[in-house]
Amino acid sequence: MSSDTNTTAAVHSNGIQVKPDVIPPRAEQGNFSEVEGQYCVRDISLADEGRRLIDWAESRMPVLLTLREKYSKTQPLKGLTIAGCLHVTKETAVLIRTLAAAGAKVTWSGCNPLSTHDAVAAALAEEGISIYAWYGNGPDFYWCIDRTIDQEPDLTLDDGCDLINTVHERHAEYAKTRVIGGTEETTTGIQRLRARSEAGQLYYPVIAVNDAETKWDFDNVYGTGQSTIDGIIRATSVMIAGKKFVVAGHGHCGSGVAKRASGLGADVIITEVKATAALKGVLEGYDVLPMDKAAAIGDIFCTATGVKDVIRKRHFEVMKDGAIVCNTGHYDAEINLKELEEIAKSKRTIRKNCQEYTMADGRRLYVLAEGRLVNLAAAEGHPSEVMDMSFANQFMSHIRLAEAHTSGDKFPIEVLDIPVEQDQYIAQTKLKTLGTNIDELTEEQQRYITDYNAGT
Ligand code: ADE
Repeated sequence: MSSDTNTTAAVHSNGIQVKPDVIPPRAEQGNFSEVEGQYCVRDISLADEGRRLIDWAESRMPVLLTLREKYSKTQPLKGLTIAGCLHVTKETAVLIRTLAAAGAKVTWSGCNPLSTHDAVAAALAEEGISIYAWYGNGPDFYWCIDRTIDQEPDLTLDDGCDLINTVHERHAEYAKTRVIGGTEETTTGIQRLRARSEAGQLYYPVIAVNDAETKWDFDNVYGTGQSTIDGIIRATSVMIAGKKFVVAGHGHCGSGVAKRASGLGADVIITEVKATAALKGVLEGYDVLPMDKAAAIGDIFCTATGVKDVIRKRHFEVMKDGAIVCNTGHYDAEINLKELEEIAKSKRTIRKNCQEYTMADGRRLYVLAEGRLVNLAAAEGHPSEVMDMSFANQFMSHIRLAEAHTSGDKFPIEVLDIPVEQDQYIAQTKLKTLGTNIDELTEEQQRYITDYNAGT
């Protein structure tokens, strides 16, 4: 029974390390670049590389740049501190620069242990952003969030609710009295916030950025579709064509992954719990099966459900030799790795983000990026072009929260929708930058569509 991961973590009786301890604490990871009260990043000397990457992303994010130009003149965020907890990527850096250009003081932590791009974090630290983030941040995850809360934020910006939850659970009085509002980026996060709101446990208004049409209909579908396949290929280099590709969850994210896998020649199988989503899978021409059946057939498995234990012991037990398993949902709970580690005989790292588990009967299963979101851990997340719209929604939502606060016209303390006009403005601006023109309704057409007397 052996494992080649070199940490001081706790081990199972079979010798395989228990997942939560796979990433060692910062104190055991060598030198970091730290200025107390200002930043902690892996290596500040990477800043120049990070700046070039951010500049590259910026050249593909024209909507955010349009907003930056407009609001840097009026400074609506001046005097406000925004704490963000969101993947530290080159695209996120463009959002951070835009918030700062509109007057905000910005402090940031990563929202996933394996998604921070260290060069980008270094560049942001050098630009004066109070940032606490590095690739491979496990046990220090909440230490980083705490350092951003130390900066006494007026607004919070989340991807996955970890910051909102920390402020609510550990600083409830501060949340109730000091925080103006927040935003949340993910489907799962919004579901949890609605539950919090229904339970009377939401202490400030939160805008559901995920629910903007210019977010979920593009980022979740095309962004997740491309970046997930990118992550799987970078971690494995396998051919997708001809593979039985099992996508668990046929919501917006899963349907994007299925579409791209199918486009590359895979034979797609969908597993679902929701009848309408399953039916859409059938009409797309995919096989739809329960996971118990799909588990024995699939070559590649990708979870995109927001639910825990979608792939677990009974599934690992029947998988084929060589099966590849990964997750593209926000949380790493979709694949039950603890159960895999309990039944595996040994484990070794084959290449970056690809671990081989050998079963007692000799079958080998491959888990990518420790079951964390494969598109960010093994690739670079969604392309800049699509994050342009998601982050334009984030930015405009913070402007709305700040302006409502300044005008005294406060939002109710609930989960709030994005206004239709914001969606249309972002889509229209994006189209303009693409050089795409669309038609306009004539006055007569306008009248016609609202005329309830107009019949057949
Ligand atoms: N979520 C998915 N892709 C992302 C990216 N490129 N940057 C930040 N958050 C993301």
